[in-house]
Amino acid sequence: MKVTIIYTSPNSETKARQVASQVSALSNGSQAIVVQADLKEIEAPEKIVAATVEAFGDKIDILVNNAGVLFGKTILETAADDYAAIFDVNVRAPLLMTKAVVPHLRAPGRIVNLSSVGARSGFEDMALYSASKAALEGMTRGLAAELGHHGHTVNCVAPGPVKSEMLDGVPKDIVEMQLKTTAVEHRYGTV
Ligand SMILES: NC(=O)c1ccc[n+]([C@@H]2O[C@H](COP(=O)([O-])OP(=O)(O)OC[C@H]3O[C@@H](n4cnc5c(N)ncnc54)[C@H](OP(=O)(O)O)[C@@H]3O)[C@@H](O)[C@H]2O)c1
Repeated sequence: MKVTIIYTSPNSETKARQVASQVSALSNGSQAIVVQADLKEIEAPEKIVAATVEAFGDKIDILVNNAGVLFGKTILETAADDYAAIFDVNVRAPLLMTKAVVPHLRAPGRIVNLSSVGARSGFEDMALYSASKAALEGMTRGLAAELGHHGHTVNCVAPGPVKSEMLDGVPKDIVEMQLKTTAVEHRYGTV
């Protein structure tokens, strides 16, 4: 595969470059580029696609909308600005990434969105995060119907607890509850 890896903060730059090196080191024709972009910005998806097309040519086969932000506050602590901060990354960015990629998508194209078990479960103090993932699932179904005519599929992956920096921010009692209902060995997923 020829892969474009996006990072936004200095926190992720080193890790993104390490993954790109691992892909290039496969010595099987795979290549990777790294692009800095903030998916809160409306222009970011066009910038990402332009860099991809410039590096690898006009056709794109797979889009993975993985970037996401967690939110854990009570309703009384939640401010109107929080809504934009969460929905801009978790919902608007996948929408605009899809819009930017579709003109280049080669059938059978694959679009994979990262939802969460939170889209369908009620977790205390996580209403805004859950709402954003439920919105993403609705968008996924609509886009699957629309893009299916062209031979593409659009799906969500809805993980339970997976060890990552994000999971470190989820209250331990919620993680314990999720692990109890995780069918496979009641254990964490791994990246
Ligand atoms: N871990 C879990 O248990 C779990 C469970 C269910 C669903 N998920 C979903 O899985 C996906 C990956 O989560 P994770 O656990 O790997 O979380 P993570 O460790 O916090 O990583 C999230 C990634 O998203 C990037 N990101 C955040 N805001 C961005 C922005 N404005 N522009 C571009 N990139 C941005 C982050 O980049 P920076 O580091 O540079 O900010 C980071 O690389 C998310 O959509 C999450 O909601 C995770």
